[in-house]
Amino acid sequence: MTTYKLLLLPGDGIGTEIMAEVKTVIDWFGKRGVASFESEQDLAGGAAYDAHGKAISEATMKLAQESDAVIFGAVGGPKWDSVPYDVRPEAALLRLRKDLELFANLRPAICYPALADASSLKRELVEGLDILIVRELTGGVYFGSPKEIVTLENGQKRAVDTQLYTTSEIERIARVAFDLAKTRSSRVASAEKRNVMKSGVLWNQVVTKVGKEEYPDVALEHVLADNCAMQLVRRPKQYDVIVCDNLFGDILSDVAAMLTGSLGMLPSAALGAPDAVTGRRKSMYEPVHGSAPDIAGKGISNPIAMIASFAMALRYSFGLVEEADLLDRAISSVLSKGLRTGDIYTEGTQKVGTKEMGAAILKELDLLS
Ligand code: NAI
Ligand code: MG
Repeated sequence: MTTYKLLLLPGDGIGTEIMAEVKTVIDWFGKRGVASFESEQDLAGGAAYDAHGKAISEATMKLAQESDAVIFGAVGGPKWDSVPYDVRPEAALLRLRKDLELFANLRPAICYPALADASSLKRELVEGLDILIVRELTGGVYFGSPKEIVTLENGQKRAVDTQLYTTSEIERIARVAFDLAKTRSSRVASAEKRNVMKSGVLWNQVVTKVGKEEYPDVALEHVLADNCAMQLVRRPKQYDVIVCDNLFGDILSDVAAMLTGSLGMLPSAALGAPDAVTGRRKSMYEPVHGSAPDIAGKGISNPIAMIASFAMALRYSFGLVEEADLLDRAISSVLSKGLRTGDIYTEGTQKVGTKEMGAAILKELDLLS
């Protein structure tokens, strides 16, 4: 039986509450006997800053490097609004992404049938929606240099950001998207702006070449990123896997996310390159939402985004697809039975707290397995 090393970083605010629930889920899967999980827990974000003046310590980074997956809650909050920029809580996330080279951000947008009425779109447009946005996370305009604001001789200021991509950066994110598509409906849509951006031209060429040479069985469609945004709100179910650069991925994944209802429901993954020897990837799994200081400590936060993030770890880091499906089914089933935390509550459903929601998912796992 394989043992996987997990590093749990609850972070701040509701991060600690939702981590407590996912821990019970991890224990449940440990007892099931298909794999064992060794977990360590440590500080990150504001909690780490309070303890030792840095958003994440070197010792914690070492644990992250040695782990098979980092399970991350959320960081930040008003308490740390005035700490210096490079030690602010969010620096923990950036450091993890950068040092572990987590270049592929996976953001699924799944519309659970029981929540289809919570979407901003009509039920028939979103019911059964299951798309996966694969966003390049370590390159592009957020990182390219020069990146500066300079004062010109005439007193005006000029701001520069640089969109920069190399062939190998595009190839590796394309492969992640094609590999994932093979486990789904074998369709990839690649979004760029080749009509106005050189990086879009290269993106298009490289994705086309990788598709043709390495994934002839996956259908590839190219779509201009602005049109993709429009199509996502017009007819989202036409897509399966969407691959795009860092900037477009940031925007398109937020658009797709809101099709599904609540922030408290959305998981995400960030993956690195497979190790040349073991084939294992560095990875980090986290809910899309933040530390929700407005509800922290009240026991009312929704643990589903965190628990669904662990389902992604089962699927993408450990290859435990049956277990991942089981956990996703348990979540869906609890929702179908009418249980809701405050963020997804509607009249006629049963309002529950964080712990009750976690316990209900465990009970459902027992029932379904
Ligand atoms: P947020 O996602 O924490 O909260 C936005 C709204 O959604 C709030 O009303 C909150 O109560 C609600 N919400 C979020 N998650 C929920 C859940 N699981 N269950 C129920 N309701 C939930 O975003 P906000 O308020 O902009 O940021 C708060 C702090 O979190 C800031 O310090 C921000 O920098 C940080 N943040 C951290 C992130 C991370 O660690 N990855 C991501 C986004 C924000
Ligand atoms: Mg964003």
